[in-house]
Amino acid sequence: MSHGGEAKPMTARRAGALKGSVTVPGDKSISHRALILGLLAVGETHVTGLLEGEDVLRTADAARALGATVDHIGPGEWRVRGMGVGSLLEPKGVLDFGNAGTGSRLMMGVIGGHPIRATFDGDASLRKRPMGRILDPLKKMGVKVLECAEGNRLPLTLQGAPDVIPITYETPVASAQIKSAVLFCGLNAPGETTVIENEWSRDHTEKMLAFFGAEVRSEAYGEHGRKITLVGQPELAPRPIVVPADPSSAAFPIVAALITPGSEIVVRSVMMNPLRIGLITTLLEMGADITELDRRVEGGETVADLRVRYSALKGVNVPAARAPSMIDEYPILAVAASFAAGETRMNGLSELRVKESDRLAAVADGLAANGVEHEIIGDDLVVRGNGKPAQGGGLVATHMDHRIAMGFLVMGLGTDKPVTVDDTAFIATSFPSFVPMMAGLGGEMQ
Ligand code: S3P
Repeated sequence: MSHGGEAKPMTARRAGALKGSVTVPGDKSISHRALILGLLAVGETHVTGLLEGEDVLRTADAARALGATVDHIGPGEWRVRGMGVGSLLEPKGVLDFGNAGTGSRLMMGVIGGHPIRATFDGDASLRKRPMGRILDPLKKMGVKVLECAEGNRLPLTLQGAPDVIPITYETPVASAQIKSAVLFCGLNAPGETTVIENEWSRDHTEKMLAFFGAEVRSEAYGEHGRKITLVGQPELAPRPIVVPADPSSAAFPIVAALITPGSEIVVRSVMMNPLRIGLITTLLEMGADITELDRRVEGGETVADLRVRYSALKGVNVPAARAPSMIDEYPILAVAASFAAGETRMNGLSELRVKESDRLAAVADGLAANGVEHEIIGDDLVVRGNGKPAQGGGLVATHMDHRIAMGFLVMGLGTDKPVTVDDTAFIATSFPSFVPMMAGLGGEMQ
């Protein structure tokens, strides 16, 4: 969503316990990949539970521009008729990814592996985000950057490689987006493409590629790392994809219930992939009353219904090695930490500076506006709660960032004074039903 219209501010206030049961929308990471895998397979891929957020819809548009037929059949239900690896068409216009880092970066890998030219653009937030991390390995694979805004930023034009060079690439930061771009580009390379990561990032791309019939090996590497090898030029066969509920979206009602006295809610069918649930681990360490009611496997991922009750939280130390498994959850963890007794130290947050906004700065400013004691020390964020509701009363600048908007609205459900965020428009990128869903649980946001 490029912000054409007026900002839509909103205020959240304390209004009693949250009660009820909800299912949050489909996982954003898997939704992008479902459309991309559908594009790269020959034949018809059926997707259920797709997140119909702005970010994912941009990826659907890009898949269409590359030759796929992408049809919306019913709520969350989509059909993609793909072109197959090696057969993508050159897009006629600019590919506008809006606010979506994942869609744009993964598609750079996809397009880089085809002898076609494409121009990538996005909104003011996406135009600020670093793309060099994706372009560096793609250039080694034979991709040419024909045009690029200063500092390796959008808008940029790529000429995909006529003959993709298979490489072994060690990612400079733990990033599933870098890993995925290299693997997607490597699909069209003769031979093996290998990605080495020193911290294991979310594994959806390698799992889904294997599910579609590619030969992919994933091995342990060092203490926390992973080495992923893809054999190039597979014939990808369509498989039905069931998108599980997004743990990064579930984080908002979960923390809302934890900080709002008397609450008891159930969040259903939350994906429990171990590379995505660092927040749950951390909240449990903080003393959160979260119970798994029914762990099961759905569509290749473990899911569970989570019962969450209001809890007296305590501060904890969150190790840097946990960051990849909760990278998008630090804003909402900072909110939980504002209500906890004692100090919560979140270590190793440098990557937060290059998200939809500089999240480290945006979170710190939001905490300051709401009277929460905190400090940034190097790349660490320290939040000092006193075990009572945070003061609130602030106006929070969201900087085109959905997770800043949702995080501070959740804060306002528990604070002494209401919390206002300056713009809620970007919530639609990942969780369009957030406000009505929270209202259904009893949260007051207007
Ligand atoms: C994502 C990877 C993460 C995450 C983003 C989604 C993905 O980004 O923050 O929201 O789907 O691959 P990085 O790769 O930059 O860590």
